[in-house]
Amino acid sequence: MKLNIALLAGDGIGPEVIDQAVKVSDAVAAKFGHEITWKPALTGAAAIDAVGEPYPDETHEICASSDAVLFGAIGHPKFDNDPTAKVRPEQGLLKMRKKLGLFANVRPTFVFPSLLDKSPLKKERIEGTDLVFFRELTSGVYFGEKGRKDDGNTAYDTNMYTKEEVTRLAKKGFEAAMQRSKKLCCVDKANVMETSRLWRETVQGMEKDYPEVEVSYEFVDAVAMRLVQWPKDYDVLITENLFGDVLTDEASVISGSMGLMPSASLGTSISLFEPIHGSYPQATGKNIANPMATVLSAAMMFENFGLAEEGKVIREAVNKALAEGIVTEDLAEGGKAYGTTEVGDWLAKNI
Ligand code: IPM
Ligand code: MN
Repeated sequence: MKLNIALLAGDGIGPEVIDQAVKVSDAVAAKFGHEITWKPALTGAAAIDAVGEPYPDETHEICASSDAVLFGAIGHPKFDNDPTAKVRPEQGLLKMRKKLGLFANVRPTFVFPSLLDKSPLKKERIEGTDLVFFRELTSGVYFGEKGRKDDGNTAYDTNMYTKEEVTRLAKKGFEAAMQRSKKLCCVDKANVMETSRLWRETVQGMEKDYPEVEVSYEFVDAVAMRLVQWPKDYDVLITENLFGDVLTDEASVISGSMGLMPSASLGTSISLFEPIHGSYPQATGKNIANPMATVLSAAMMFENFGLAEEGKVIREAVNKALAEGIVTEDLAEGGKAYGTTEVGDWLAKNI
């Protein structure tokens, strides 16, 4: 297969972890006879510094004309500490999601048998956890009308959803549930919020199209609690943008390291793949960042092209590295800590 992949390394450790995913993907391509053309483009603080805009038109053109996007991380502390900053790297991310139509953010949480002791949660509670969030990504309070009034003393953000937006996201969730254990949980706050009542009513209306799927409806506060108490109770979860943002960070601790979980953002045409962690500015340039989440995001990318075997060899190489202690310092715990590039080299060699 010939693949054109837009490569958005972004900020902080982004370029370092992206390099490892490229190395591993190239090894996979060589093994299976694919041809990948990488198309690097600017985003985030790096793009603001270069052209004054976190998601330049040129970057959009490259993304929109590629088969997929592989994304590193964005964010830089110089913007976080400057309340007067007019452009922020994060705006680039939101603009990119909207312009590429990436409405479904797929965030899996699973555990690695060799790392069960690394989780802050008890081993017997998390063993066998394998769940996936479908977070709505291009609407809700992130994109609703916002502003200030009363001389700046009152602020508002509007949460708004259309039935169509809920339906297309829920459809992805139902389809995933059909491929998995046929269990779907709709996470909302329907006892309080009108948008949540629309979500619930929409999903209820879709149940008849998926008679085999057992659907539950739970309030977001209860899910926040049960997720860390009994993560194994969940399989596919669907939810709105903000709830999904919060719950997926919470879920990420189950696996033991922020540096392990990949994600995909699916849209109407192209899809984007990225690690769930951020730009980790303190580690920039030190060759210590864990590249596994980005490498696993590349595995999701291959799988999304229908190349299941290619995804599997990447997952197997990662499992083997973890089991053999070929890990960066976040997972080394007193043992030998390998550098980002060494882990990437090892993975590529073991494809
Ligand atoms: C995420 C991030 C973003 C979000 C930020 C950086 C805008 O936290 O991808 O989860 O809130 O969606
Ligand atoms: Mn987040």
